Amino acid sequence: MPVSSPPTPAPLSPPAGGPPALRFDTVSKTYRSGQVKALDQVSFDIQPGEFFGLLGPNGAGKTSLISILAGLSRASGGSVSVLGHDVVDDYAEARKRLGIVPQELVFDPFFSVRETLRIQSGYFGVRNNDDWIDELLLNLGLADKAHFNMRQLSGGMKRRVLVAQALVHRPPVIVLDEPTAGVDVELRQTLWQFIARLNREGHTVLLTTHYLEEAEALCHRIAMLKQGRIVALDRTSELLAGRASTMLQFKTDAALPVSLRDQSRITGRIVQIKAHDATEVEHILATLREAACPVEDLEIGRADLEDVFLEIMQGAHA
Ligand SMILES: Nc1ncnc2c1ncn2[C@@H]1O[C@H](COP(=O)(O)OP(=O)(O)OP(=O)(O)O)[C@@H](O)[C@H]1O
Ligand SMILES: [Mg+2]
Repeated sequence: MPVSSPPTPAPLSPPAGGPPALRFDTVSKTYRSGQVKALDQVSFDIQPGEFFGLLGPNGAGKTSLISILAGLSRASGGSVSVLGHDVVDDYAEARKRLGIVPQELVFDPFFSVRETLRIQSGYFGVRNNDDWIDELLLNLGLADKAHFNMRQLSGGMKRRVLVAQALVHRPPVIVLDEPTAGVDVELRQTLWQFIARLNREGHTVLLTTHYLEEAEALCHRIAMLKQGRIVALDRTSELLAGRASTMLQFKTDAALPVSLRDQSRITGRIVQIKAHDATEVEHILATLREAACPVEDLEIGRADLEDVFLEIMQGAHA
């Protein structure tokens, strides 16, 4: 689903010389006495102010990494720190710098929305927080739901409360584990506008999502995880530019010239050919013309992050 009017990623602010916002240092995680290797020596830093995307197919290890960051699970090896504070040795300092929106909906059904947010503020020792709570409710479209009991909310509204809960103590580092899974277009728009504003104001954001157009629109840099290993990590623009950036698609009943056949994806009458630049597009069209290969419904489109993701996950560049 397209993200209409996505916020433009702000330029990456240079690191201020302090510690990284998040540091993952050779993090490994095994489950079931070593039978499942969910994370295998994962290392990367996220700088303060970055909007960073962590992408990967189901089971790649994204939630495992976030659970270790949140202190909900222990790494089998390596370490994780938040603004220089180790999440195990210095848990309280690390945790208070983090706002985490979990993938699973967990909430206490007996409290109202406002009570839930007040309790969470108290947990972080923040008093007289109602002004900020009101701003959160307003920005997340929950202003008229403040007195609703949590169990009276729909699934999407509960997710909004989880986002508010994560932000209640104004954490400098915001972590969102698939915050838009199964939620409506309106919440996505509201959520991204708000999160992009917080990022412009200096908050660091780590996002996992399966909606690759969201990641493409929002993230400065992207890491791709496959079976617990990082298989790509670069600025979003570099990831897009470094691969085939143009996709030619047409229909034909004729056999393709041999020189094109190897580089084409053929599905019935539909032929797709990747090209890196305009010269390559011209070359492909000239080859088709010289071979007198009849072409219908020719389209030339830009390859997007989804094409890049599939290319990387299929192992072409892993
Ligand atoms: N508590 C657990 N016990 C055993 N195995 C687990 C546990 N939690 C996760 N795993 C396994 O670890 C691997 C990584 O799972 P994880 O939840 O981190 O993936 P993910 O990238 O978040 O996937 P998704 O996109 O589906 O949310 C999977 O093989 C999963 O089955
Ligand atoms: Mg997950």
